[in-house]
Amino acid sequence: MNSSSIFFILSFIFVSQVNCNKFWWIESAVNFIKCPLGDCCNDYYIPQNITGLRKELDNNLFGQHIAQDAVISALAAHIAIENPPKALAMSFHGLAGTGKNFVARIITNNFFMKGSLSRHFQVYTGRIEFSLQDQINSYKELLVEKIAESLLKCPKSLFVFDEVDLMIPGLLDVLVPFLDHGPVRVPFKGTKQSVLTNKAIFIFLSNTGSHEIAKALVDLRSQGKSREETRLEDFESLIAVGAFNEKGGLHRSDTISTSLIDHYVPFLPLEKPHIRQCIKAAFRLREIDPSEEHIEEAMSHVTFGDKPYDLYAKNGCKRVDQKVASIVYKITKSNELKSHKEL
Ligand SMILES: *[C@@H]1O[C@H](CO)[C@@H](O)[C@H](O)[C@H]1NC(C)=O
Repeated sequence: MNSSSIFFILSFIFVSQVNCNKFWWIESAVNFIKCPLGDCCNDYYIPQNITGLRKELDNNLFGQHIAQDAVISALAAHIAIENPPKALAMSFHGLAGTGKNFVARIITNNFFMKGSLSRHFQVYTGRIEFSLQDQINSYKELLVEKIAESLLKCPKSLFVFDEVDLMIPGLLDVLVPFLDHGPVRVPFKGTKQSVLTNKAIFIFLSNTGSHEIAKALVDLRSQGKSREETRLEDFESLIAVGAFNEKGGLHRSDTISTSLIDHYVPFLPLEKPHIRQCIKAAFRLREIDPSEEHIEEAMSHVTFGDKPYDLYAKNGCKRVDQKVASIVYKITKSNELKSHKEL
C-alpha cells in the first residue's frame, strides 16, 4: 500500500467520523465480520416492519377492512413479545383475487429486507409441490426437514402454504408439532435436534369457505348491516361449523382439531367499487392518470358472479393488472403515433 492510499483511507475514516455517528465505521465493520454474506438472522435483515406493512396495506388493499385489521394486530402482537408462547398461525380464506396472496406478499416484503428472496422465507404451493397421493410420506419428510432447517438457522422464519385446498388431505399434519407450544425435537441430518418454533410465522391460503363467506355477507346485509360495519366476529361462526376445513391439506387434520390455527381471516368478495380501485391503482403504478373510458374498458373484462352473488367479482382483482397493462400499451402506442404525425 503506498502512502497516498493510506492517506485516502485515513481521511475517509476522519470524514465519516465527522459526518456520521462517531462509531459508524466500527459498527459496519462488526456487522461485516458477523454477517459477511448478508441476509443474516438479525433485525437489519428481518425488520418485521409493522409501520411499513400498515402503510402499504392502507394504500393498496381494497375492500378488506376485516382482514387488514386482523392481520396487522395478529402480527404486531406476535412480534411485540420477546418469547411468544407459540408460532403464529394464520389461515386466509376467500375467493381468488380477493387479496390473500397479495397480503402474504406485502407481509414478506415488510418483514424481510430481501422480501421473498430472503433465505428465511419459504413458500409451498399445493398444486405444484404436493399433489401426488402416493408421495405423501416423502412430502412429509421433506417438509419437516426443510422447516426444521430454516428454523435452526433462524427462528423468525416465515412459511406460506398456498392453495392448501389442493394439497393432499392429511399432509399438513406434520406441521402440528411446529404450531404447538414448546420446542420440537426432529430427526435432522442423522441426529435429533431441538428446534425453537415460537418466533415463526405460518400462513395458510385457501379458497375453502369462500362461498360461506359470500353468503354470510349477503345475510348480514339483508339484516341491514353495511359491508363496512361487518366485523370479524360476524364470520367466526363459520369456523365453528367447519366451513374453513372442508377439504385439502388441513382437511380433518390434527392441526384443526387441536385448534393450533390462531386466526382464521376472511377475505370478502370484491364488488364494483373495489375493482375500480384496483384498476386505478394499476394505472397509477404505470404513472398514467386513467380517463373514465379507460377504467370502463378495464371493467368490461371483469365478470361478476352467478346469482345471488352477482354483486361479487368472480376473480376479484386477479388479471386486472394484465388488462390495464394492455390498455396502457395501446395508449402509449397511439400517443407515439400522434407525436409522429405532428413532426
Ligand atoms: C418501515 O417502514 C416505514 C414506512 O414505509 C419506513 O419509513 C421505515 O424506514 C421502515 N423501517 C425499517 C426498519 O425498515
